Amino acid sequence: MKKGRYITTPIYYVNDVPHIGHAYTTVAADVIARYDRMCGHEVFFLTGTDEHGQKVQEAAARQGRPPQAYVDGMVGRFQGLWKALNISNDDFIRTTEERHIRVVQGALDLLYKKGEIYLDSYEGWYCLPDERFWMEKDLQEGKCPDCGRAVEQITESNYFFRMSKYQEWLIEYIKAHPDYIQPSVRRNEVLGFLQKPLGDLCISRPKSRLSWGIPLPFDENYVTYVWFDALVNYISIPGYLADMDRFRKWWPADFHLIGKDILTTHSVYWSTMLRALDIEPPKTIFAHGWWTVEGEKMSKSRGNVVNPIDVIREFGVDPFRYFLLREMTFGLDGDFSKDAMVRRINGDLANDIGNLLSRTLSMIEKYSGGIVPASQGAETPQDTALRKGVDGLSERVDHFMEGIEFSKALSAVWEVITSANRYIDESAPWALAKDDAKRACLSTVLYNSAELLRIVSLYIYPYMPETAGEMWGQLGIEEDIASAGLQEGRRWGGLKPGLRIKKGKALFPRIEKIEKTERIWKMEKIEVSTQKSEETIAIEDFAKIKLRIAKVVTAEGVPGSKKLLKLLVDLGDEKRQVVAGIAAHYRPEELIGKSIVIVANLKPAKLMGIESQGMILAASQGEVLSLINPEKDIPPGSIVK
Ligand code: ME8
Repeated sequence: MKKGRYITTPIYYVNDVPHIGHAYTTVAADVIARYDRMCGHEVFFLTGTDEHGQKVQEAAARQGRPPQAYVDGMVGRFQGLWKALNISNDDFIRTTEERHIRVVQGALDLLYKKGEIYLDSYEGWYCLPDERFWMEKDLQEGKCPDCGRAVEQITESNYFFRMSKYQEWLIEYIKAHPDYIQPSVRRNEVLGFLQKPLGDLCISRPKSRLSWGIPLPFDENYVTYVWFDALVNYISIPGYLADMDRFRKWWPADFHLIGKDILTTHSVYWSTMLRALDIEPPKTIFAHGWWTVEGEKMSKSRGNVVNPIDVIREFGVDPFRYFLLREMTFGLDGDFSKDAMVRRINGDLANDIGNLLSRTLSMIEKYSGGIVPASQGAETPQDTALRKGVDGLSERVDHFMEGIEFSKALSAVWEVITSANRYIDESAPWALAKDDAKRACLSTVLYNSAELLRIVSLYIYPYMPETAGEMWGQLGIEEDIASAGLQEGRRWGGLKPGLRIKKGKALFPRIEKIEKTERIWKMEKIEVSTQKSEETIAIEDFAKIKLRIAKVVTAEGVPGSKKLLKLLVDLGDEKRQVVAGIAAHYRPEELIGKSIVIVANLKPAKLMGIESQGMILAASQGEVLSLINPEKDIPPGSIVK
């Protein structure tokens, strides 16, 4: 019996650049996972990378590297992005992992033995220079559709999955399960597609053409077609064949979130593959819409691919997460632009919620000595309306979250935020404070506003986890919002009077006008970051670098240089002079006594005529530069490895 909630994203092609489209699906899945956890469910949230196939093999070859080394160098771009975006995935699948390969081969073996896979030969055309096989229908004027060169006719054998035999079953299944493919426009699209006869699916590639894939367990001359490999990730990682008890805990998946581009592979290939394996289909395949950028399709050739890291750097993680899910109705297409993003930040975030928190806390400071007062006296009609608005959220948000209507869920929360700002305007606490007879009313207004913010934080937590935590912190709540249960937590009255608030920085500073030329992010930046992460070195190369802990003995500026500082550092058995370009970030006196890391075997060099016998390590990001310090007390000279 299934006990947990299981949510997946597509596994992204590792040779592509992660952009806002990838970020979108993954953030959406993260919101569902976080919300489900808050509702008390045990959750398994899976994302990962698709690492086999022709495209990867070709990309690796272009760089003159073995495919495995190439994918090992690329995967960090996705993992790093998910970290930066606060994605709470429980596992990360790479299709080159043994735990996945074993299951793909196990499933193929089962299907082959059941007669679901057969060998067939057919005629086609081969482009020798491109090493690519084409069907007659693919050719353009009898030539290779890719390079336009001549092709030769060949006969090829491949393995086929008997997909066609499940066509009727699939049509009936989709009709009988309205929630299976969502939204309904996609469901109709698949049903339309299934009106034409469904062929069998070619699931192998001859090794002579493509070697970068999972070998077929029953014929060593072939590797598995990349989709037949990739789709299996949804069952291999929760334990299919390897740990069936675990598998039954998670399967069927509650949601496969995908983009509309991969609707057919999921609803047709995957459904029939599962059927042939006697595995229940997932509960829902949800295909969302497409992001364009400033009205145009996002593409490398247009140079308008938006790098999520740039957006995070410029606007912060939570505003980006919020924007993605608020701006676009899940299921429909949407447009990404800096202007739209700034509008959301200045309106919904700075003006509405940011302002509500800041004015509430300022009033508690001013009229209640920084302590959350108890609500006193009888409720006014305005108090009742406010409380009912908050109580009513639970049903509405649950309903919208059930249907993955993120934008509507957020709108419902924002209605309550707007009503709270109005409530403060109308109750006019600044006037109540002038009248001693109205102290009780004043306390109630302050309490209600703070209590509303506490509950609202719970609702926005799945979307903006950092902001929600910050709000609880500023309200003086010590409990970790990540582990607060939603059912209990959202009951009105949970805020304890007597808490000391900790008013902090503004949640969302307003953004002033952005110049037109800076509106979109440029692709070049992505190419640069790609290149960096691709460079790998062997462990032997790393071992050549001798890193040691050093203690700063003296530090002084270098005459005539704004950048350089001259340090004398202690390495335990010797002292060294090191010149470092850190003067803009550190004053000499704050360095004395600090433990830092130096490259001890660097060839001495002269900087502004002063010899530097080593180099110190520092991390930098934009304007910020930070020296690397050992986390514990450790003697100078210690080896860093
Ligand atoms: O298709 N707008 O990987 P992929 C919204 N490896 N979402 C977008 C988008 C856009 N403009 N562009 C991409 C693959 N996406 C296969 C999947 S699954 C077993 C194998 C998102 O790297 C969206 O989720 O091409 C889309 O389905 C996915 O990225 C495609 O990622």
